Amino acid sequence: MPIAECKIADLPKITDPRGNLTFIEGKSHIPFEIKRVYYTYDVPGGSDRGAHAHKNLHQLIIAMSGSFDVVLDDGFEKKRFHLNRSYFGLYVCPMMWRELDNFSSGSVCLVLASELYDPADYYRDYKEFLRDAKAKRGLAEC
Ligand code: TYD
Repeated sequence: MPIAECKIADLPKITDPRGNLTFIEGKSHIPFEIKRVYYTYDVPGGSDRGAHAHKNLHQLIIAMSGSFDVVLDDGFEKKRFHLNRSYFGLYVCPMMWRELDNFSSGSVCLVLASELYDPADYYRDYKEFLRDAKAKRGLAEC
C-alpha cells in the first residue's frame, strides 16, 4: 500500500473543564476493528524503537504523553510524522517499514492493532521487506 494511505487522524475530542476526553471506535474513526492494544513507556529520551514492517497488520499510533517521531517507508518513499497530542493518531497500513525516534523523556506511545501478536507477521529485515514491497507494487501496477 502506498504511503499516502497513512495519515494523521484527528480523533473526536470532548472538551470539558474537568478534563478533555477522546474516544476511538473500530471501523468508525479507524479503518479496522481493534483486537490488541499495547504501549511503550519509560522510554529513555533519545532511544529508537520499531525498525520493522508488518505483512497484514493495521495500526493506529498515538502519543498519549510527550512526543516522538514516526518515520514511515513504503519501499519507494519516506515520510516523517511528529506526534505530540493524544487526540491525533497516525494510521499505519500493512507493508510499511516504521522507525520511531526523537522520544521526549516520559513519553507514552499507545498502539491500537487490528490483529493479535504474531511474530510471523513481521519483517525485521529491511532488504527482505524492500524486495516484497517492490514485488507487490509491481504486481499491482500490471
Ligand atoms: P517489538 O515489536 O520488537 O517492539 P518495537 O515496537 O520496539 O519494535 O516488541 C518487543 C518485544 O515485545 C518482542 O520480544 C515481542 C514482544 N511483544 C509481544 O509479546 N506482544 C506484542 O503485542 C508486542 C507488540 C510485542
